[in-house]
This record gives sequence, structure tokens and C-alpha cells, in this order.
Amino acid sequence: MAIDYLRLSLTDRCNLNCIYCTPLEKSGYLAHGDLLRHEELARAAAAFVRAGVKKIRLTGGEPLLKKNILELVRMLKAIPGLQELALTTNGVLLKDLAVPLREAGMNRVNISLNTLIPATYKQITGSGSLEDAWDGLMASLRAGFSEVKLNFVVMKRINDAEIPEFARLSMDFPLSVRFIEFFPTNERSKNLKHALFTTAETRKRIEDAYGPLQQVPSGPTDGPARVFKRPGAKGKIGFISGRSDYFCGACTRVRMDCTGKVYPCLFSPSTHTLRDHLRAGADEETLVELIKKIFLVKSKYNKDSASSGHIEMSSMGG
Ligand code: GTP
Ligand code: 5AD
Repeated sequence: MAIDYLRLSLTDRCNLNCIYCTPLEKSGYLAHGDLLRHEELARAAAAFVRAGVKKIRLTGGEPLLKKNILELVRMLKAIPGLQELALTTNGVLLKDLAVPLREAGMNRVNISLNTLIPATYKQITGSGSLEDAWDGLMASLRAGFSEVKLNFVVMKRINDAEIPEFARLSMDFPLSVRFIEFFPTNERSKNLKHALFTTAETRKRIEDAYGPLQQVPSGPTDGPARVFKRPGAKGKIGFISGRSDYFCGACTRVRMDCTGKVYPCLFSPSTHTLRDHLRAGADEETLVELIKKIFLVKSKYNKDSASSGHIEMSSMGG
């Protein structure tokens, strides 16, 4: 598969501390000098685009904590050949940033929101404000993005009772609500292994509440999600079944973390780092050649090749 999708983590910092993502004992954040600067991120991104990437998604940590994020968005948006710039955020800072982000050229936004109950929000995120996240979601729906998605990681006995309510959001708002199978990644989330709630169970909950779901053909922005629509609904319902499904064969993505380490697969070690090359002043040609070499090793890895069984989503960006 040709690689055309780069997930670019901008920072390891986050304003939330989610039970399924952030490690239990966070040993502090990376030093400022370890992180790629805007100019370095933009040079790396431009080389990825020359190597075949068409879509870049900004992740974190929480990407909106990156200083002068709007300036960075404008720099990335100016890369010739880049077709789509997208963002995955917890939404807490989005209320005031949605319109400026859209104006800076951001095309699409995915928001991680896993409950509408304040006490459960506190239980899942440890901090932050549900009201801010909700306001961020509403602001992004008004801001004119080509699509807004909501990511709901389903966790048994934590938020599974809210499945019908979230399905309902896809009917009332032009929102793609995606139910994501929780998967244990680090030590902390492994403590939650009883929380797995399969896509089949989630779908049953929705169908018990609203009747049968009709699958619609996946669109170009649906990724590995299976997508459904209720008659008359403004939005869509998607299921991402990272546990019970196997979509490695269709994967066209790579990841770069905020220090320039590149991961050909979510389950691979970082095989290369770009930071030293960027800081040594490598020209674009050299970076493109290096990136193409990274793309070649991607096919060696898949879900079964997880060597350490340990993935830090909080710095890999999901
Ligand atoms: P779109 O561009 O809207 O398709 O975004 P996305 O689903 O790629 O990005 P997002 O950051 O919203 O990802 C949501 C989560 O879904 C990811 O963090 C993963 O947990 C899961 N996911 C989505 N696609 C894949 C995939 O191809 N492989 C794996 N392992 N997980 C995926
Ligand atoms: N299980 C499933 N999805 C996860 N994400 C992060 N950690 C996990 C996990 N343990 C996903 C969420 C979030 C995205 C950035 O990463 O869907 O929206």
C-alpha cells in the first residue's frame, strides 16, 4: 500500500490525564529543546509530502498546547501537494480556536469525548472541564470544517451506558460519531482490560435503542471505520474495531512523534529519527530519500508484531 497519511505528534504535553491513554507515572515532560520546532516540523512535513503523503493529522499529547499553533498550521497548509490537514484534539481549548484554525487552513477536526456526565468525565480524564469540551465541539461544528468527528472509546461499566446517547448525537448534529474499541496499550490501561466492550456489543446497544443500522459505503475520509447512517440523521455512526477487526492490510499511515522519531506502524519500534538530520541542515532531497526508506520497512510490521506490547498513546498521538 502506498503511504499517504502522516500522523504528526506536536507535543507530549496534555491538559488531561485519561485512564486509557496517559501513563500512570508520568516522569515529567520532554525538555523544550528535544521537541521539534515549527520550522523543523514544517521541513519534515514537506519532505513527507514529497515522498507521497497527502494527508497530515496533528496529534499530541494535546496538539492545541503547541505554542503558536495557528502559525504552524499556516506553515503546514502552505506545503505544495498537501491535500488535507486534520487535527485530533480533546476539544478543551477548541472553543476559541475553532474559527482561527479553520481560517488558518485546517480542514477537519476529530474530537475525543467519551462521556456527557461530569462525574464520569472527571473519572476518565482526571481533569479538564466537560463544559469546555462540549463548547469546543459545538464551536467546531459552527466553524465550517469539511467534517467533524467525535471519538468515543467504549469502556465497559465506565461509559457503555451512554452509547445510545452518543449515537443520538449523530442524528441531531452533522457529526460522525465513532465508537472505538478500547485496547490496552500501557501499564495503566492494561489495568482496564476488563473494560473491553466489542463493536458487536456496541452495535447491539444502538440497534436495541433505535432499530437496525444500515451500512453505507465507506467514504475517502472514513479510514478503517465501518460506517452506518440512520434515515434522516444529520451525521454518521462509525465503528473502529482495533481489537476484533484486522485492518493492517489497508493501513497507509505512518507516525512521527514530537522529537522526530518515526514509527512505520503503531506496533513497531521507532525505526528512524529525523531530528538529527533536520538539525544538521539536511536538504529536502536527503530527507525524502530517508523517508522513502522508512516507508519500505512498514510492510515488516503489523498488529501481531508488537514486540514490547507497550505503546505510549500519549506521545504517539493514537
Ligand atoms: P480520520 O482521518 O478521520 O480517518 O482519522 P483517524 O481515525 O485516523 O484519526 P483519529 O486520531 O481520530 O483516530 C482515532 C483512533 O482510531 C486512533 O487513535 C486509533 O485508536 C484508531 N484507529 C483509526 N484507524 C486506525 C488504524 O488504521 N489502525 C489502528 N491500529 N488504529 C486505528
Ligand atoms: N484504546 C482505544 N483508543 C485509544 N485512543 C487512545 N488511547 C486508546 C486506547 N487505549 C484513541 C482515542 C483518541 C485517539 C487520539 O486515540 O480514540 O481519540
